[in-house]
Amino acid sequence: MFNRLFRRTPSEYNFRITPADIEIRVSSKETLLQAALHQGVPFPYNCRAGGCGECKCRLVEGKVKELTDKSYLLSAEELKENYILACQSIPKSDVVVEVTLEKGRPEHPIVETSGTITKLKPLTHDILHVAMGLDQPMTYTAGQYAEIILPAELKPGAGESRSYSFACASSQDGRADQLDFFIRKVPGGAFTEWLFSQTKVGTKLHVRGPYGNFYLRPGTQPIVCIAGGSGLAPMKAILEQAHQDKKSTRDVVFFFGARTQADLYCLDEIEQIRRNWTGRFEFVPILSAEPENSTWQGRRGLITDHLQPVVGERIAQHQAYLCGPPPMIDSCLVEFSRCGMDSSQIHFDKFLDRSHLVQRQTV
Ligand SMILES: Cc1cc2nc3c(=O)[nH]c(=O)nc-3n(C[C@H](O)[C@H](O)[C@H](O)COP(=O)(O)OP(=O)(O)OC[C@H]3O[C@@H](n4cnc5c(N)ncnc54)[C@H](O)[C@@H]3O)c2cc1C
Ligand code: FES
Repeated sequence: MFNRLFRRTPSEYNFRITPADIEIRVSSKETLLQAALHQGVPFPYNCRAGGCGECKCRLVEGKVKELTDKSYLLSAEELKENYILACQSIPKSDVVVEVTLEKGRPEHPIVETSGTITKLKPLTHDILHVAMGLDQPMTYTAGQYAEIILPAELKPGAGESRSYSFACASSQDGRADQLDFFIRKVPGGAFTEWLFSQTKVGTKLHVRGPYGNFYLRPGTQPIVCIAGGSGLAPMKAILEQAHQDKKSTRDVVFFFGARTQADLYCLDEIEQIRRNWTGRFEFVPILSAEPENSTWQGRRGLITDHLQPVVGERIAQHQAYLCGPPPMIDSCLVEFSRCGMDSSQIHFDKFLDRSHLVQRQTV
């Protein structure tokens, strides 16, 4: 009772978004992005963790507390012009920001529900297929992700969340009673170490979602897909969804990067997508650490070494989708830019984790 009397109640502020001229309320306990998303404003974003820069906006009026250092994501000019990351900014007064809102993004209600693990199947030595039956259905678009909320018994970390991409297409109306994830064990990782050692079929978890703007854009251009490790999850879901929605007429080259043959998985599922695809579909697995003297007849090295040789001179006319470890994505982005691809045609989800984010924390 005493504690409750002296606990500071969160303040509420006005939050105006220009030039769309939308005004919402934001509390001092949430980020500007959280307030926008919860109130249905199509604010641009992706990782929600201060790692992708997609939520950058110009602070026109007001004060915010920033949770991480933004200087490595924003240019010197943007910093001078008072740009902030909405996912890392908590209001300290009424605020006005300038940002172009997204058009055409999948808009689904954010659902928070509990679910029960129904399947834990190893796909490789360090990737698990985790299926979860939901107590309340969630509607999503293939390519998006959900947050798993870390359970109370996990110390430290309880109450934090981790993002995982949906590994399967949703049903025709987007509604899912079960979620499937491909989760890689990260050495020293709070959630994945626990998941791999402590969970079993029947374990209850809480999830929240869907989030993200990684999804198949409309168009007729050919597509280059690049997945690394557990980054296969959203790529497989996107391709399955395209086939399901009868949008599989575009030509596809699909690169799957892994270390060795033992790290390749879901090859039967990919072959099934390939067989059902109406356009041309080329699947190109590439191994970076396969022993020289093994039976592997396929390509070796890094994806960047094979991009132009496989896709050809017309690479810049493609639309690109990339998902997986940040270094793989960064090096492919450099290669796409070298080949003259317009950045508006490149869509990616970096699987950022705390090792990428903590060194930048300022509070
Ligand atoms: C949009 C999005 C989608 C994603 N989808 C997937 C997916 O489908 N599948 C998948 O496998 N992953 C996915 N991820 C990654 C996932 O969200 C987690 O980050 C990952 O599983 C690690 O979680 P963890 O709790 O095990 O590790 P964490 O506890 O977050 O630790 C990660 C690493 O950081 C290190 N670390 C922790 N604290 C510190 C510190 N203070 N200083 C330095 N290093 C530290 C740990 O030792 C570990 O190596 C996605 C990420 C994003 C942003
Ligand atoms: S959504 Fe804010 S940095 Fe990625």
